[in-house]
Amino acid sequence: MKLAFGIEKLDEALGGGLDKDSVNLILGRSGAGKTILASHWAAEGARKGESVVYLATTMGRKSCESYLGKMKFMEDVFSKIHWRFVRIEAKFLLPLTPEKLEESVISTIKMEPDEVDRIIFDSVTDMDKALGDPVLYRTALRYLSRLCYKNDITALFVEEAPLMKEWSETKNIAESVILLDILRVPDGYARALRILKKYRTAHPLDYIPFEITDEGIVIKDGKYVRKNYEFEYRA
Ligand SMILES: Nc1ncnc2c1ncn2[C@@H]1O[C@H](COP(=O)(O)OP(=O)(O)OP(=O)(O)O)[C@@H](O)[C@H]1O
Ligand SMILES: [Mg+2]
Repeated sequence: MKLAFGIEKLDEALGGGLDKDSVNLILGRSGAGKTILASHWAAEGARKGESVVYLATTMGRKSCESYLGKMKFMEDVFSKIHWRFVRIEAKFLLPLTPEKLEESVISTIKMEPDEVDRIIFDSVTDMDKALGDPVLYRTALRYLSRLCYKNDITALFVEEAPLMKEWSETKNIAESVILLDILRVPDGYARALRILKKYRTAHPLDYIPFEITDEGIVIKDGKYVRKNYEFEYRA
């Protein structure tokens, strides 16, 4: 079973959407469109009558209402999503055990985990910052994934890709990874997304162009390829 974004061309590229009961990742730099893409997925779940939790660490209720609440795809469903606004602090996570993390998540979502169909963690980067240690962060993500698998929750992590340093290992935990990027093109910059991986699915590898409008994410036709190929196939 697939849990769609409600963005036709993207769902098609993903083979129908995200796999039920899997852990997934949206990765991208600041302003790339991560929150908007994740909220499309939340809205589509709510539209289908699923129980959707959106755990937001980077915005408050007011700005969420005036930002995402005004987008076209949120019409009729904004109030159906269980929005949770939290500030992650190390004391909620430490000492890091599966029980402690589970307890913190449950008290935050204010629901029984087995009642949740879709959950969005936007962003896990704030958990990384709160813990301040890559090993602890990786462990916390594993516990979080385990909690989702155990309760048949389909999860979407949102993570900020660093500008300079090494990328995190979150992509190794996720069953699918969508990278949102801003590409340098001959006449400026353009938004594009790329499915880095999706288990069990043959998906395009190209950069797919998109725009952000008041309607949300709009996928455009065509694809971006590197102009100067580094490899060339010869028979
Ligand atoms: N109504 C709109 N019309 C056009 N572009 C918009 C609109 N709303 C937002 N954007 C674009 O989307 C960007 C923000 O998208 P989004 O909030 O999803 O980014 P993000 O990757 O979650 O960023 P952050 O790192 O701040 O969390 C804005 O910087 C702007 O470029
Ligand atoms: Mg965001």
